[in-house]
Amino acid sequence: MGCSLRLPPVPSLAPPAWLADRFEVFERPSRLAERVAELLEQELSAAPARPLGLATGRTMEPVYDALVQRLLALSPQRLKALQVGWRSFNLDEYIGLGPTDSGSFALEMSRQLVRPLGLEPGCVRLPDGLAEDPSAEASRYAAAVRAAGGIGLQLLGLGSNGHVGFNEPPCGPEAPCRSVELSAATRSHNAVAFAGNPSRVPAGAITLGLEQILGAERILLVVSGSAKAGILARLLREPPGPSLPASWLQGHPGLHLIVDRAALGG
Ligand code: GLP
Repeated sequence: MGCSLRLPPVPSLAPPAWLADRFEVFERPSRLAERVAELLEQELSAAPARPLGLATGRTMEPVYDALVQRLLALSPQRLKALQVGWRSFNLDEYIGLGPTDSGSFALEMSRQLVRPLGLEPGCVRLPDGLAEDPSAEASRYAAAVRAAGGIGLQLLGLGSNGHVGFNEPPCGPEAPCRSVELSAATRSHNAVAFAGNPSRVPAGAITLGLEQILGAERILLVVSGSAKAGILARLLREPPGPSLPASWLQGHPGLHLIVDRAALGG
């Protein structure tokens, strides 16, 4: 796997067999964010052959803050090397939103990583939410991921209905990169970026599929906060199936699950 693991700081919790020792629990969300940032920095510093897969959402905000702090503390030479070598693909983007639109993932990435780290915007790739033909854009984006050799380390959050990226239930493990319709639950969860109004959340998105996500060499699934306790409990206990898209990750040998105590219902 290439990333150093540490034993879970909460030893009383027994992870399911499919996770083996690839499971970490942190009492405080800030420590979880620092740990994920540490793993991302290790990946970036190793000059990976494949690009990073990045996610957006509230879970990632403290992670990216911690990553920016870590990277800006590097020597100018090392920071320059990371800036020059940066290659990433985001999971998804809303249909109808572009990089200047509030609520778009492109703007979120610009605010959280591109500008603070002085990255070339073209190195941080996302699907084009403004493309005239979203299905054609999904095919183009999938081809770009393929041409880059697939994803190396894929960072993932967990949707409160079990989605990863915008792979809404029901979803099989071979789902391709495509345009999708968002569920009412997802639009409601994501409304916070749209003045709290679910009807202002775009109805559709372009997302990498389980095909690309499961094709990554390694996957870091990050789950934080008590609002995710119910869905995380299902993920830890249920066998893989279409009603819980994240459950397909269970078969991935490079899955690493990092959670905080609140997400475990503690
Ligand atoms: C969103 C995004 C996912 C994200 C997940 C969790 O809808 N499409 O990439 O990881 O749902 O979001 P949050 O971290 O805000 O709970």
